[in-house]
Amino acid sequence: LESTAGSLSFSLDVDVYDYTLEWLVIHRRLYNGSLSGPTWRVRRGDTVSLTINNRLTLPHKIGPANQPKLPNTTNIHTHGLHIGSAEPQDNVFVHISPGQSYTYTYTICPDQPAGTYWYHPHLHGSTMLQVHGGLSGMIIVEDPTTGSAAMPAHLAAVSCPNNCAHDVQLLFQ
Ligand SMILES: *[C@@H]1O[C@H](CO)[C@@H](O)[C@H](O)[C@H]1NC(C)=O
Ligand SMILES: *[C@@H]1O[C@H](CO)[C@@H](O)[C@H](O)[C@H]1NC(C)=O
Repeated sequence: LESTAGSLSFSLDVDVYDYTLEWLVIHRRLYNGSLSGPTWRVRRGDTVSLTINNRLTLPHKIGPANQPKLPNTTNIHTHGLHIGSAEPQDNVFVHISPGQSYTYTYTICPDQPAGTYWYHPHLHGSTMLQVHGGLSGMIIVEDPTTGSAAMPAHLAAVSCPNNCAHDVQLLFQ
């Protein structure tokens, strides 16, 4: 997913999917059935609008503080982006309950260092289950300068945006 003319707008479904890894079918909470979720490619100053549609269903599993619970409630944290914690930006106290939707709007800070970051749910009680299960993906903040101004020619020759075919994205869990 790539921003154009300073903005990126998209939606992601959260649901349980059957995902086939070679000969093994696993059952996972995923973004649009994809393991891992799609990469967001953005630039400083961009506006990103993301609607999360939580397709998971009741029942809830309510529990005491600091124990696993709410496996079907979710939210999003943009790990590494220097953005606000007030809604509708990166507020990890947002609860997107089963069947609900929520639209985040992020402004990528003009001072945000170019780099590779990631997004994942950050709901206290279900973060581990959801992140380890496959709900996460990569955020790439591109350097606004490209070519020789941004990096040496031998790196530019194997890098996005002009040579993306050589770009290998690795997300470890
Ligand atoms: C995810 O799936 C929903 C429903 O099919 C679709 O509307 C949305 O565009 C998809 N998101 C992406 C990033 O492909
Ligand atoms: C969570 O959602 C799934 C998929 O809709 C459903 O099978 C399950 O019963 C729901 N509740 C819990 C506690 O897992």
